[in-house]
Amino acid sequence: MTSAPASIATDATPLESEVAKRADFGQVRYAQSWEDPENLRGAIRPDGDSRVLSIAAAGDNSFALLVQGAGRVVSVDMSPAQCALVELKRAAILTLSHEELLRFLGATEGSDRLALYMRVRPELPIDARDWWDSQPQLVAKGVIHVGKLENMFRIFRTRVHPALHGRRTTRAAFEPRTRLGREEFWHERWNNVRWQLLIRMFFSERVIAKLGRDKSFFEHVQIDVSKHYSQRAYHAFVELDPSTNPFLQYILFGRYLDLEHGHPYLAPQHFETLRDRLADGALEVVCAEMEGYLGTCEPGSFTGYNLSDIFEWMSDDLHERVYRAIARTSAPGGTLAYWNNLVPRSAPTSLLASGAVTTDRELAVRLHDADRSFLYRDFHVDTVVDPEAAR
Ligand SMILES: C[S@@+](CC[C@H](N)C(=O)[O-])C[C@H]1O[C@@H](n2cnc3c(N)ncnc32)[C@H](O)[C@@H]1O
Repeated sequence: MTSAPASIATDATPLESEVAKRADFGQVRYAQSWEDPENLRGAIRPDGDSRVLSIAAAGDNSFALLVQGAGRVVSVDMSPAQCALVELKRAAILTLSHEELLRFLGATEGSDRLALYMRVRPELPIDARDWWDSQPQLVAKGVIHVGKLENMFRIFRTRVHPALHGRRTTRAAFEPRTRLGREEFWHERWNNVRWQLLIRMFFSERVIAKLGRDKSFFEHVQIDVSKHYSQRAYHAFVELDPSTNPFLQYILFGRYLDLEHGHPYLAPQHFETLRDRLADGALEVVCAEMEGYLGTCEPGSFTGYNLSDIFEWMSDDLHERVYRAIARTSAPGGTLAYWNNLVPRSAPTSLLASGAVTTDRELAVRLHDADRSFLYRDFHVDTVVDPEAAR
């Protein structure tokens, strides 16, 4: 895990994160990726020549990009805890057998996680080793369960959802059905009055800010949050197919039902490829604010970007400046892929008007409609046509 040098951004005032000062990034917030790697595959279309800058979060999508064929991935996060998590997953993939990896991470049951940690530990960089040495209780739980967001889903699953549906109905929701069958199931068995009320209460801005995210992450949000998530639940249960949705399965069962079709880094069929790519050094983890890191990058450094939904934690002004700084580090034709969770953020109009950047709404809408990480309001796929013109 490397730390980026101080910003040398070309704007008059150096770019700095706004949210870094307002929220605590010393804890694991996201132990898993809550963004569908299939969106990245469809947007970035990684191949051996791809050099991708990817927001790290839990690391899952940086690993997915390697599995999908990207030549090189730089995984950036301003949270030391998230960086330590990515390093732990990387070290575990490099050290353990696939079966042990699943047990160690918590994807399957296990009681020997601390013993497995002692085997993984020598493979960790010193910062990450110090971090995990001080958190044995998190290692023992299985680290894919220990994020603040996963904890909110656990509370929902164990304390709220049992009052809404019994086990049989919950299991039945994940049986394969046609679109019409899912619509009937939703109306007849799922969308009862208790569900409608409690979803609105639990997935509200106030509760999510306290239990799952942070108050500051809602600073630029202007929509009715609980209404948004109620509508997205309909999308997940009816428009999408729950029987093949790892994100929905985790929320309601606390585990993945089908590892082969979920996160690529956990899938048995990708294990050896991923381990070889990591052993070749195809992943670099950088613990830094994106804002500062960009100033250290040469023009043409990257051909693709997984930007998660970082823009919505920024003011309009900072979003535009960071977007421009990203575009300047792109190779001509580079792709920016990013989600909007609750805040609309897209390519700055000035860049679209000058032709420096184009946006592919048709592709983005298609990917958004199929996005198994159904919580988001939108997805964007932009192309940097002329990086020089982004100045
Ligand atoms: C943007 S968050 C999104 C998570 C989830 N979709 C949500 O909205 O709550 C994903 C990761 O991005 C990191 N992150 C956010 N803004 C960043 C920035 N400006 N530079 C580096 N990392 C950043 C966070 O620490 C986190 O691990």
